[in-house]
Amino acid sequence: MEILVLGAGAIGSFFGGVLSRRHDVVLIGRTEHVAAIRSHGLRISGKTALIAKPRAATRIPQNAKPELVLVTTKAYDTANAMLAVRPFADRAIFLTLQNGLGNAETIAKTARRVVAGTTAHGVTFEGPGEVRHAGVGETVLGGWARVHEADLVRLRDIFADVGIAARVTSDIRSELWSKLVVNASINPIAALAGVPNGRLVRDRRLQEVLGDVCREAAAVAKAEGARVDSDELYKRTVLIAKRTAANRASMLQDLERRRRTEIEAITGAIVRAADRHLIPVPLNRMLFALVRAREGAVHGGTDANQAD
Ligand code: PAF
Repeated sequence: MEILVLGAGAIGSFFGGVLSRRHDVVLIGRTEHVAAIRSHGLRISGKTALIAKPRAATRIPQNAKPELVLVTTKAYDTANAMLAVRPFADRAIFLTLQNGLGNAETIAKTARRVVAGTTAHGVTFEGPGEVRHAGVGETVLGGWARVHEADLVRLRDIFADVGIAARVTSDIRSELWSKLVVNASINPIAALAGVPNGRLVRDRRLQEVLGDVCREAAAVAKAEGARVDSDELYKRTVLIAKRTAANRASMLQDLERRRRTEIEAITGAIVRAADRHLIPVPLNRMLFALVRAREGAVHGGTDANQAD
């Protein structure tokens, strides 16, 4: 199968690299990453050890005819990335495995057939041509637009065939909200504290904050109609932090690499929904403000990410 990975960061490179064991994969990424992959292959270390040989390019090749497009850009880049896929937007199945809310909606404005997914794998971008699979997690797939059960089962089997366990759900909205709550709990705390995920559940003080942030976010998810349970979500968050103990959360990696974070699509989405339902979320609001301020400081205070 020809597979295009739009956004070869940590997660995209991991999935694309592993899929390239059996499929014709093209990773679309940044110049230095692409150059390194072209000369030495993509090195995956950690829980998965592999030198993968996917094709890599900074732009979508003219003759690309992918059957499957994995969208793994940052949430704030989704709309922009979708501009380049029009030639096959009617044919390919588009699968988002991104963090944050709103990605499937954005993709479905251009693409006809969309699968929404979540993944709890923890992957660290080590440098050009190199990612570390720091924690194993569940991947969940659900239909979003014009896909049939058979398409989902086929995708699940394609993943299983290369060693990535995935599950199909009939309620992807609840899964997306659950993953949002997990990210809203782990990412900003790990980013501000500057610690790997495991510390959030080993340090008593941090674990208390994690629990309080998680419960606030879970109440919002419930009000939005997601079928979630606050205690179950907290357990899931702790489990994911444990399984990805060695990983530096993506938001921490972004701050360390002086990049924009996904705080808007993660904690921002929680705060905006809380406002709609008049639910108090003081901790999430504080984390939102602090991460935004850190981003502003990193960008010299001139970035678009300044306070509204
Ligand atoms: O964004 C991340 O880093 C990941 O979604 C997760 C699962 C929290 C692991 O670090």
